[in-house]
Amino acid sequence: MSTPAANDRTVTDQRSIDPSATERDWWRQACVYQIYPRSFADAGGDGLGDIPGITSRVPYLKDLGIDAVWLSPFYPSQLADGGYDVDDYRDVDPRLGTLADMDELIAALHDAGIKLIVDIVPNHTSNRHRFFQEALAGGRGSAARERYIFREGRGENGELPPTDWTSMFGGSAWEQVEDGQWYLHLFAPEQPDLNWKHPDVIEDFETTVRFWCDRGVDGFRVDVAQLLAKDLPEDTASLPSQAELDAMDRTSGTHPLEDRDEVHEIYAGWRAIMNQYDPPRTAVAEAWVATPERRALYARPTSLGQAFNFDMLEADFDAAQYRRVIEENLAAAAAAGSSTTWVLSNHDHVRHVTRYGLPPRNGDTRKGGNSWLLSGGKQEDVDGAGGLRRGRAATLFLLALPGSMYLYQGEELGLPEVGDLPDEARQDPTFFRSPGEDVGRDGCRVPIPWTRDGVAFGFGEAAPHLPQPESFGELSVQAQQGVDGSTLELYRQALRLRRDLQAAEELQWVETGREDVLHIRRPGGWSALLNTGQQPYPLPAGQVLMASAVLDHDQLPAQAAVWIREDEQTPQA
Ligand code: GLC
Repeated sequence: MSTPAANDRTVTDQRSIDPSATERDWWRQACVYQIYPRSFADAGGDGLGDIPGITSRVPYLKDLGIDAVWLSPFYPSQLADGGYDVDDYRDVDPRLGTLADMDELIAALHDAGIKLIVDIVPNHTSNRHRFFQEALAGGRGSAARERYIFREGRGENGELPPTDWTSMFGGSAWEQVEDGQWYLHLFAPEQPDLNWKHPDVIEDFETTVRFWCDRGVDGFRVDVAQLLAKDLPEDTASLPSQAELDAMDRTSGTHPLEDRDEVHEIYAGWRAIMNQYDPPRTAVAEAWVATPERRALYARPTSLGQAFNFDMLEADFDAAQYRRVIEENLAAAAAAGSSTTWVLSNHDHVRHVTRYGLPPRNGDTRKGGNSWLLSGGKQEDVDGAGGLRRGRAATLFLLALPGSMYLYQGEELGLPEVGDLPDEARQDPTFFRSPGEDVGRDGCRVPIPWTRDGVAFGFGEAAPHLPQPESFGELSVQAQQGVDGSTLELYRQALRLRRDLQAAEELQWVETGREDVLHIRRPGGWSALLNTGQQPYPLPAGQVLMASAVLDHDQLPAQAAVWIREDEQTPQA
């Protein structure tokens, strides 16, 4: 067997965890499991997942070995954007349960040693939110309109939108109301953007943050955290065009719509509240910004404390790309005093086993982490087996890194994207506003299969709100539980071992002499290797702890990852 070359170097040695700070710093290396509540478990039997459904599955979550749950929005909502259009931030959608059900869920998770992070959506409310209803009723020039971004239209009678800006879901970013004024919505028309210069908005969200902290949640995931602060002239004629916006610098904190420096004043207010609790509540920013340095601003302890690193959603299964992403993100997070996050899948992106079954993107990020599958690609062209093999290897390798890991429900089953949902089943506004050109994100939101057969594969007793394909039966929890080599058992074993093995946030690269093989070493004498190439790679001497694929004697096969406790370590350079 080969011995690793001696030119090791430590690329990050940020700080060891002080055991007395473990409770306060639980999030730094946590494994967080995202639940999209309407698609997890349906206890109410109406085809929509709900809070009691999640509570009933806490034993499963405990057994899986996660540290925390991140719950996507469960608030009252007309579901114009899967719940990211919130009517009331301090209540529960009656179809999903009640505040008492949330209290029960929090208690059940805490009893199982699992923390809870809830999603908070501060850039926009829904158009049914009290503030927006008051803005409509108050009329032009009213104080209530000031809480949103209303402007006069262009054209002789103001019949044209104030600008040519397009919303993230396609179509105009402005919607006209009855009296002729227009309001800004960077997402769907049902999601009017708030005016964060308004004291009522600031105060109301601080009340919401306190409300959930008091109820016992451990942290927040902050939706599109980079968009809240805006600086737009009152006068329509002075608003920039889309082309002008596109040409503006996004790295100086002065863009009129995105990632403005003063957004951190808002989060400093939240941080002050979150720090009043013991342990302090955590927050993670969803911040799509121009550079890792700009992202790190959200991760500072004086701001939200952690920020999502989405680079793995855009990287191919490629060792060189992985190494670059890992080095950049560990360094940026460390410089901010935070830890990074690893994300392979979430509710907005094509599931990673499917992404890895598609041709490499080679840096083409036009679809922001999505792929041609979303714009008319064919499901039958996906290399399902290859994608699963690469997906398992990727997960095992990323679980070996310092930082926290965010898993998306169903990835532990190796669930693929459901690319061929019938048009009439689709719910995502992207599909309707593109129109039809981009099939949207429903394919990763199909309800979880719990059993091999039965109505909705054990998800609930009614037809689920998005149809599940037949293939889900064999991917169900029941089909994989206790089965050696299944994806579910791979995740369970890895999460269990990860807990025992991770001590300090240190990582050392071991040079492999191969561009397509990565080898990292962590404290405690263990190593992880990833082979993204086609040729096997000789394993270093040691005890194999686990592997993403069957090993061929002392070789790491193509497109696989392994964890090893090495016999003898090369001294650090
Ligand atoms: C975030 C959410 C996404 C939602 C959007 C608007 O990107 O993850 O699901 O559509 O914000 O709230």
